[in-house]
Amino acid sequence: MSTDRLVIAIDGPSGSGKSSTARGVAKALGLAYLDTGAMYRAATCAYLDAGVDPSDVDGVIRATTGADIRVSTDPDRQEVVVNGVDVTTRIREPEISAKVSAVSTVAECRANLVARQRAIIDAAPAGIVAEGRDITTVVAPDADVRLLLTADPQARMARRKAELGDKVDAAALADQVLRRDSDDSLLVNFTTAADGVTHLDGTFLTLQQVIDAVLGLISDARG
Ligand code: DC
Repeated sequence: MSTDRLVIAIDGPSGSGKSSTARGVAKALGLAYLDTGAMYRAATCAYLDAGVDPSDVDGVIRATTGADIRVSTDPDRQEVVVNGVDVTTRIREPEISAKVSAVSTVAECRANLVARQRAIIDAAPAGIVAEGRDITTVVAPDADVRLLLTADPQARMARRKAELGDKVDAAALADQVLRRDSDDSLLVNFTTAADGVTHLDGTFLTLQQVIDAVLGLISDARG
């Protein structure tokens, strides 16, 4: 492992706790943080703002690959700007969650976002903790530590409910967690650990226990 920069890759399905874990690990180690899901959500804003229907694949590809997408890599500050407009709050709205699969299931959109994500990872001076569905396998297969964080579906839906509060009913919650995972799994396998990827099941662990486990893996890898 290189001594000067550290790249940590965390994959996992919706609600597995990967965002909170990645942010906590980045803060603990003074690293940057990349939420790749925020970029898929930002790309969704771009095609919707261009007036493109989710079923118009060519339109979605044009609007998303041409979009100016900026994401903060500061683990203490979430900020997402698309074509000059701050969409930090909007990307978490149910409409975006419901329409993001039009981006995440299209190979051309994925390839474009993966290239942007690699550039962000390469530009982080001290290193970065990057999380998403395909980080350990596609975006950063050479990361110093690669982790697949899972939790059983009930635990994942309970976490999303705690995040979203009363804004969503049970059907919308199942749509956000289970249907999106099933759509996304058409192009990316994020439920089984690839070779060299450590699998951590967080179903019965607190966030701090998961963060500590990841910090332990990083310190083992550093020798
Ligand atoms: O993690 P999230 O819910 O914010 O992700 C938003 C959507 O983007 C979700 O449908 C999965 C998809 N996504 C993906 O396909 N690949 C990634 N690296 C990150 C997110």
